[in-house]
Amino acid sequence: MFTKEEKEAIYKVIYHRRDIRSFLSTPIPENTIHKILNAAHHAPSVGFMQPWNFILVSSNEIKEKLAWAADKERRALAIHYEGEKETKFLSLKVEGLKESPLTICVTCDPTRGGSHILGRNSIPETDALSTACAIQNMWLAASAEGLAMGWVSFYKKNDIRDILEIPPHIEPIALISIGYTDDYPEKPILELADWEKRRSLDNLIFQNKWGEN
Ligand SMILES: Cc1cc2nc3c(=O)[nH]c(=O)nc-3n(C[C@H](O)[C@H](O)[C@H](O)COP(=O)(O)O)c2cc1C
Repeated sequence: MFTKEEKEAIYKVIYHRRDIRSFLSTPIPENTIHKILNAAHHAPSVGFMQPWNFILVSSNEIKEKLAWAADKERRALAIHYEGEKETKFLSLKVEGLKESPLTICVTCDPTRGGSHILGRNSIPETDALSTACAIQNMWLAASAEGLAMGWVSFYKKNDIRDILEIPPHIEPIALISIGYTDDYPEKPILELADWEKRRSLDNLIFQNKWGEN
């Protein structure tokens, strides 16, 4: 079904994709944005509920407000660390909302499709999980297009609802910064900053029962 080259291409995109927080101001062609959003829209979703919306924020004034909300949360979260770890946390760049030419707020509507979405009655958060699948599709498509993307989740949802006039029942799942960059590292930024490293896959795989290798 897929040629050898096509198979290699998908793995290449998966391994190449990075979370990016530094962007150039170069604008993104509109049809490229549409292709990325269409990739998102072809993600799997529980009961085919497609709970997502995409708010495209190009206004500098609104981006400034979003960056304020994220920075407020970053400073609040610093209380979870002490001493050296706190200094390191505060030195990490955790968003590039003001720099990127476009921010996309990806939302999830838990009411879409009514109250008995196939499969969602058992695990209600499958709506948000579906939205995360859409975001991952966007991320891979953006990488393939030579674009950089950053997932920002440092915020209080109500701050984002206020700024973007999102109704109270809609969940702002992510703020996505998207744009071109001249800094696309081969390894996760948190690994390069010595904050965390990739765990060994072998230790994460069990056979038949939890904990059995
Ligand atoms: C659900 C989710 C939320 C995230 N939130 C943030 C965030 O608020 N700020 C940030 O800098 N990175 C955020 N990230 C990016 C992760 O830090 C990043 O994916 C991880 O360090 C691995 O790096 P990589 O994506 O380059 O492989 C988030 C990623 C996910 C999946």
